[in-house]
Amino acid sequence: MADALQGQVAIVTGAGGGLGRAQAAALAAEGALVVVHDRNRETAATCAEAIVKAGGAAEVVVGNVTDNADFRKAAADIEHRHGRIDILVNNAGIGGGQAFEDVNEALFDEIFRINAKAPFFAAQAVIAGMKQRRHGRIINISSLVALRGTANNPHYAGSKAALIGFARCWALEYAPFNICVNTVAPSFIATPMATNFFSAEDIARRGQANPMGRLATPDDVAKLVTFLAGPGADFITGQTLSANGGEYVNAM
Ligand SMILES: NC(=O)c1ccc[n+]([C@@H]2O[C@H](COP(=O)([O-])OP(=O)(O)OC[C@H]3O[C@@H](n4cnc5c(N)ncnc54)[C@H](O)[C@@H]3O)[C@@H](O)[C@H]2O)c1
Repeated sequence: MADALQGQVAIVTGAGGGLGRAQAAALAAEGALVVVHDRNRETAATCAEAIVKAGGAAEVVVGNVTDNADFRKAAADIEHRHGRIDILVNNAGIGGGQAFEDVNEALFDEIFRINAKAPFFAAQAVIAGMKQRRHGRIINISSLVALRGTANNPHYAGSKAALIGFARCWALEYAPFNICVNTVAPSFIATPMATNFFSAEDIARRGQANPMGRLATPDDVAKLVTFLAGPGADFITGQTLSANGGEYVNAM
């Protein structure tokens, strides 16, 4: 166990899933107490158990991030019990995968409610305490598709692009309070979100097409999140960092 985040409290939303689980473990390995937030009780519990087994500190909060009032209540409770929330990782999200003409209003609203609106209000739920303590890190998990576009996923890309806009604005509004806000925009990773939509052949082809010859992994993203949460990133705010193995520049 390292101690860069010793004494700090982090919330990772969607921490029962592929990327969130790795982020939660990595933040805990740096000494943070990690609140594992997810709507899936079972996967959240497994994530927290693994952290505790590895010698870290974690607790589970089950909730739907789209229920803003419930998230606000949970954040207030965490602050009450632990005295602080230092880090919020807005990681929970859902995939899209439909062609533009197949996206109806219900699909559009759902993806924006989970991927964009919920992170907006989750950040609002933690910002007052961060301001008061003059310390905070908010990290939005966006996607490479928000930077370079993709066919057949405009609603997902748009929802993920919103996170970049939010982060830039929050970065400026809260820089005077020593709160850093950044966005991580990973390339494709073979988590359940992605494997639900793409065939095994498709996924293998994507890995081969990457300049580094492989797909990104949850750990690639977790390392970036831990860096942005830690002291190495004290003067980094309003940035979008992308773990993509060169895929972004390859497309230029
Ligand atoms: N997998 C990829 O290729 C990829 C690439 C770039 C960015 N991302 C982003 O990374 C994040 C994590 O994705 P993942 O690949 O780990 O997906 P995942 O499906 O494995 O995990 C998502 C987690 O979020 C939780 N969740 C979803 N909606 C929720 C809600 N309304 N309330 C509470 N919890 C909710 C799910 O229960 C799940 O545990 C997402 O925001 C996704 O858009 C994924």
